[in-house]
Amino acid sequence: MPNDPTAPSTATNQDAQALYRLAKTLIPGGTQLLSKRPELYAPERWPSYYRQARGCEVIDVQGRRFIDMTGMGIGSCPLGYADPDVTAAVVRRVQNGSMCTLNNPEEVELAQLLVRLHPWADNVRFARTGGEAMAVAARIVRASTGRDLVAICGYHGWHDWYLAANLATEGDGRRLDSHLLPGLEPRGVPSQLAGTTLPFTYNRLDELSAIVDRQGDHLAAVIPRPWATAIRSPPSSAAAR
Ligand SMILES: Cc1ncc(COP(=O)(O)O)c(C=O)c1O
Repeated sequence: MPNDPTAPSTATNQDAQALYRLAKTLIPGGTQLLSKRPELYAPERWPSYYRQARGCEVIDVQGRRFIDMTGMGIGSCPLGYADPDVTAAVVRRVQNGSMCTLNNPEEVELAQLLVRLHPWADNVRFARTGGEAMAVAARIVRASTGRDLVAICGYHGWHDWYLAANLATEGDGRRLDSHLLPGLEPRGVPSQLAGTTLPFTYNRLDELSAIVDRQGDHLAAVIPRPWATAIRSPPSSAAAR
C-alpha cells in the first residue's frame, strides 16, 4: 500500500474482492463489525476497504473517491472523518502514552461534560462498543427494576441478552430477522434466556401494546431503535411512552 493515499493505485476491483474473500477465511463474518459487511450493500461491488477518509470523502484501495452517504462510520464520526481537532487531540494523547496503569484526568472532565449534557444521568460508565454499552444498560435496568423482560426494536449488538430474542419460544424463533439482517444464530446463548427479550417492529405500536398487555408487569424497559435508515412513517415515541 503506498504511503500517499491519493497516489494512483494499481489495485483492481478483483484485488479488493479477493482481499475480502481472504478476510472471510481469517475473520468470522469477514469484518469486525456486522454493519460493515459488503453483502449488506452490494456483494462483489462494494468498495470494502479504504485507504483514506477525510470529511465526508473516502478513497478506496483502488484510489476511487466516494462521498460517504451511509452514516459516517456507522454513526461514530458525526464531525466527519479525520476531523482536525479530534485528530490533533488523539495524536497528542498517543504521543504522551495512550495507556497507563494510572487513570487519565480527561475521563473526569468528559464525565462532567456528559452529565451536564444529559441531566437525567448522575453517573458515567464508558464502554468500548455499542453492544457493550447496551449490555450494560440491559443489566442496569434489570437490576434496578428487579424485572427480567426487555422489549426491543432494532439492532443492539451481539451479546446474549439481545440474541436471546432469537431463541425459540412456543415454536417461534429468529424473531430478529427483520431487525438488521436475517440469520443471527443464537448458538451459545443459554436456552434459559428464551422469552426474556421481546422484539417489536419499528413504529408498530400495536405490537408494542400487545407486549405491554401480556408482560407489562415483568417489563424492565422498552428499548427502541435510536434511528431508522428508512423511515416509513413518523416516529411515534410519544405514543409509545
Ligand atoms: C443501535 C445500535 N446499538 C448497538 C450496536 C452495536 O455496536 P457495536 O458494533 O459497536 O458493538 C449498533 C451497531 O450497528 C447499533 O446500531
